[in-house]
Amino acid sequence: MKKPTKIEPAEGRLAVLLPGMGAVATTFMAGVLLARRGLGEPVGSLTQLGTIRLGSRKEARSPRIADFVPLADMKDIVFGGWDIFEENAYEAAVSADVLAAKHLDPIREELSKITPMPAVFDKSYVRRLEGSHVKKGATKADLVEQVRSDIREFMRSRECSRAVCVWCGSTEVFLETKPVHESIRAFEKGLLENDPAISNSQIYAWACLKEGVPFANGAPNLTVDFPAAWQLAREKGVPIAGKDFKTGQTLMKTVLAPALKARMLGVRGWFSTNILGNRDGEVLDDPGSFKTKEVSKLGALDLILQPELYPSLYKDIFHKVRIEYYPPRGDAKEGWDNIDLFGWLGYPMQLKIDFLCRDSILAAPIVLDLALFLDFAQRAGLAGTQEWLSFYWKAPMAAPGLTPEHDLFIQLKKLKNTLRWLQGEELITHLGTEYYD
Ligand SMILES: NC(=O)c1ccc[n+]([C@@H]2O[C@H](COP(=O)([O-])OP(=O)(O)OC[C@H]3O[C@@H](n4cnc5c(N)ncnc54)[C@H](O)[C@@H]3O)[C@@H](O)[C@H]2O)c1
Repeated sequence: MKKPTKIEPAEGRLAVLLPGMGAVATTFMAGVLLARRGLGEPVGSLTQLGTIRLGSRKEARSPRIADFVPLADMKDIVFGGWDIFEENAYEAAVSADVLAAKHLDPIREELSKITPMPAVFDKSYVRRLEGSHVKKGATKADLVEQVRSDIREFMRSRECSRAVCVWCGSTEVFLETKPVHESIRAFEKGLLENDPAISNSQIYAWACLKEGVPFANGAPNLTVDFPAAWQLAREKGVPIAGKDFKTGQTLMKTVLAPALKARMLGVRGWFSTNILGNRDGEVLDDPGSFKTKEVSKLGALDLILQPELYPSLYKDIFHKVRIEYYPPRGDAKEGWDNIDLFGWLGYPMQLKIDFLCRDSILAAPIVLDLALFLDFAQRAGLAGTQEWLSFYWKAPMAAPGLTPEHDLFIQLKKLKNTLRWLQGEELITHLGTEYYD
């Protein structure tokens, strides 16, 4: 990939379009609206709070990321979205029950004005949901055209100069790449023929790519992770990224597993279970949707531990992931991990994690960062899969044939080095020999 020569400035308003206006989407919107008014801090957002070291450690140059790269300002964001329910963002936030009245009341008016556009929804891809606020179309190609026209109309009426889209919709049933996904031509034919291998989220993604709108996929669905979408994204000069926000349990897994491997400690088993009571939990209670999530959550460990290189330490690990729908907890998920590890001479040990987290509170800052970084990537002329954003994903997309990087700290280094590279700063290798000359 060649280094872009020019990065366009972030001028004008940025439409942030969210298919799926549920818990994550409304928590994100509310947080940005509150932060804009100085009524809350965007905790967890690298773009808002993170810094980046530049040059030698002796120079003490560590600007804020937002001051180092030309990101859109939060005040220039205009929110839009689609949902199968007609509730506006305020009503949806109240139903999601993530944020307290003290946070929702001051922004009630602004949130109430954000109303979802009718969704592309075929229930066979999300079996636990039933909604009436949906588009009608004879073919999937018609539905793509309707979403394209929604995007154009939204941008025109809200006077936006640019748009990005972050999928915050429910997890769809497990689908694998089929011949229809192999080329742009096959996919467009499939849209006309209503091919069942084309899901709801793929219809939104295709419409976005056609409109030149960068797309991030917060769920584990295929959505933009197939050859036709990679090709279209590159052809249209659109950055894409996915899949599945890395928020709680997998975040911890991709911190701990590299630590165990770094010290050459063995692992015999890793059992991860969760209780979750929000609508996402209800959707994941369907085995079809759970399978999509399970595949996404299982991938990280093998790729980090590399049993092929260290068979005596990591071959035949028993790795199991469960998610149990348990309504009393709502969005306040609890994730347990039990790790059976071993050390010197094979002596066994155990490690337990109990993460009492809040799903949407962890996901909201990721939505903000992805929207801002994808918009920046597009203005920098980057197209196709943005592997430098792996930091945010449970199942990061990477070039065909390339093993994705899961280690959180390598991902962070890669993200920051990409920003340095784009801005013409020296890359940081941490070699540090110059300090001892
Ligand atoms: N919160 C986290 O920590 C986290 C982490 C990783 C991934 N995710 C994923 O993010 C997504 C959103 O999570 P959530 O907690 O907000 O779920 P949610 O159920 O509260 O919201 C999802 C919304 O999507 C809507 N929807 C479903 N299909 C749609 C379609 N075709 N078009 C438009 N809207 C549609 C639903 O009606 C619902 O309002 C889920 O896929 C979830 O698995 C969340």
